[in-house]
Amino acid sequence: MLQGCDASILLNYKGSERRALASKTLRGFQVIDDIKAEVEKRCPKTVSCADILTAAARDATVLLGGPFWEVPFGRKDGKFSFSKEADMVPQGHENVTALIDFFQARGLSILDLVVLSGSHTIGRSTCYSILHRLAKSDPTLDRKYLKNLTRSCKWSYDYVNLDVATPVTFDVQYYKNLGKNMGLLSTDQALYLDPRTAPFVSALATQPDLFFNQFAVSMVNLGNILIPSTPNQKEIRLNCNYVNP
Ligand code: HEM
Repeated sequence: MLQGCDASILLNYKGSERRALASKTLRGFQVIDDIKAEVEKRCPKTVSCADILTAAARDATVLLGGPFWEVPFGRKDGKFSFSKEADMVPQGHENVTALIDFFQARGLSILDLVVLSGSHTIGRSTCYSILHRLAKSDPTLDRKYLKNLTRSCKWSYDYVNLDVATPVTFDVQYYKNLGKNMGLLSTDQALYLDPRTAPFVSALATQPDLFFNQFAVSMVNLGNILIPSTPNQKEIRLNCNYVNP
């Protein structure tokens, strides 16, 4: 990913991003493998794993009630993947300055940051990612919610929903939760508390159309992050797990 959206996360060997500590709870790899197998049968050596991954993210969004957008197809798959790079991705305990810097270093704006964080309207997190909040009874967490989380989090490998109210619907509830001190990750809650990001949170919480339209734009921005690569370093993989022989 740090080399751009090139399916480097799918490469599966010792030292690859997929084997990084930060990737431990990633799931759904089989879904991508199944799609790739089907596509290779009908149209061999034509559709990259990077394009499949991006299209699957779009389709999953639509299935859960979110916006549709045209995916710019034609990206190729990278030949390199380093676990060190996966471990550089924000983990949920960073401050807003670190998040802004991380996004801006990749050409993404503060608006992209707040809008893409809105994908936490679905999915789940391990308790491990919020242990620091539970341990210090984080004062920016609603008291009752904190109590419930503490009850749900017996072990660090237990799971809790990222959106406490509507976890399987793609909607603006995530932003509404933040207004009630019910953001799960401290990086989520922080977006509501920082003057650089709070105005976006408030606007998105009450304007679903704004969220949907901008999510489409920001997802394309995310997919288009380009780290220049020398020729012959990209290919269409035959199997998403490995570089072509
Ligand atoms: C702003 C920086 C971000 C931080 C700090 C962050 C952090 C996290 C963390 C800690 C988890 C839970 C991991 C675990 O403990 O299992 C998570 C889950 C998730 N994140 Fe993010 N994330 C960020 C940005 C994004 C972006 C840009 C997207 C997509 C556009 C995204 C989509 C998701 C989804 C869908 C899940 C749920 C995964 C599942 O259900 O298995 N996040 N994120």
